[in-house]
Amino acid sequence: MTPDEGSVEIVVCLGSSCFARGNSENLAILNQHMQSHELNATVRLVGKLCQDQCKLGPNLAIGGELYHNVTAARLRELLQQLQVRSGEKHGTP
Ligand code: FES
Repeated sequence: MTPDEGSVEIVVCLGSSCFARGNSENLAILNQHMQSHELNATVRLVGKLCQDQCKLGPNLAIGGELYHNVTAARLRELLQQLQVRSGEKHGTP
């Protein structure tokens, strides 16, 4: 499965380990971020079941790149980088 052209796919592991370790909060952050930045047309949020990498979790992938131990702070950094890559204007408050 490939994301639509011009869009970014964010895959969140919703297995019980990742969910309990932080992806519950990460999912809420992602939903809030997408709404506040009106990213529903350019970001596809996908949930997956356990990927057998529980010890490294919480895990999620952005644009096919897998990230481990994603804390809320790390996720916010990744989302900022994603905004820059997707061409959102610099200097926008
Ligand atoms: S619960 Fe996420 S890898 Fe197992």
